[in-house]
Amino acid sequence: MTPNKVSIFEVGARDGLQNELPVTTQDKIALVEALGRAGVKRIEAASFVSPKWVPQMADSGDVLRNISRQDGVTYSALTPNLKGLELALDAGADEVAIFGAASQSFSQRNINCSIEESIERFAPVMERAIAANIPVRGYVSCVLGCPYEGDIAISEVARVSEILYKMGCYEISLGDTIGVGTPANARRMVEAVSQKVPVDKLALHFHDTYGQALANILACLETGVSVIDSSVAGLGGCPYAKGASGNLATEDLVYMLNGLGIETGIDLHLLAKAGNTISQALGKSTGSKVARAISG
Ligand code: HMG
Ligand code: MG
Repeated sequence: MTPNKVSIFEVGARDGLQNELPVTTQDKIALVEALGRAGVKRIEAASFVSPKWVPQMADSGDVLRNISRQDGVTYSALTPNLKGLELALDAGADEVAIFGAASQSFSQRNINCSIEESIERFAPVMERAIAANIPVRGYVSCVLGCPYEGDIAISEVARVSEILYKMGCYEISLGDTIGVGTPANARRMVEAVSQKVPVDKLALHFHDTYGQALANILACLETGVSVIDSSVAGLGGCPYAKGASGNLATEDLVYMLNGLGIETGIDLHLLAKAGNTISQALGKSTGSKVARAISG
């Protein structure tokens, strides 16, 4: 069941940088272009959310408009509502993502509405995106725990995932938003969701807050899932745990997959270079152990 190829969905320029001190638009553009040169094919480069909620993403339109696009690379953006979608289409996003949650409290605090209301808001986004021929990805947050509610029922994760999939999302990304999962429950969760959404339409989006992300991915790979979200240099902190690490570092993921003989098409050294450069712009050292080892 373990795949021999994994598609990496790089979220550093969005999930990472939304949780870091601001960098310049030029730094973001340089990062996205460097990721493309390293062989990353799917890059989340923007987020069209309220700039009052997430000021770090306010220049998303300028980022998308000014990158030198590379053939075969998809540049995507988060779009919580129709306003976000229109801005993303205008800026030339190749695909967009709607983002819901398996926790009511998280949904309320993150996008200011209940799970049910979020589904209602996503419907016109989906309709308009389909009309514009733009694929829509769906995120489900808090799949292994919520910062406000603690444990989340796996059945609720499966229910929300199925709704987003049936609405037309081409892929459902399962977010361990606060990185609390461990291998056995991560695998159980993926197995349960794959009863409702085909496993080849699922992606893992595991934050590394508790240092479990690689172990969780390894456990879940055996279910056949073959799309993994990660963030170069481990960019991104955790707004719910001050000082904690962010997303799983893409370099660490690629290193593990290389060792397993699983293809990613990514050049580890160029990837680490991209991560080191953006870390320098942020005035900190890379959050990737592998990048530290091979660049030291
Ligand atoms: P709201 O306040 O309920 O929305 O926010 P509203 O429609 O009442 O609008 C309020 C103001 O926001 C208005 O401006 C709108 O124009 C503006 P004002 O009149 O006050 O000047 N506005 C917008 N501006 C730009 N782009 C837009 C947009 N929409 C409204 N698209 C809203 C609702 C969803 C907008 C807000 O709650 C928001 O922006 N939330 C974003 C939260 C966020 O970005 N979280 C991080 C991303 S999710 C994540 O990281 C998890 C993930 O990685 C997976 C995982 O790890 O689990 C994906
Ligand atoms: Mg995330």
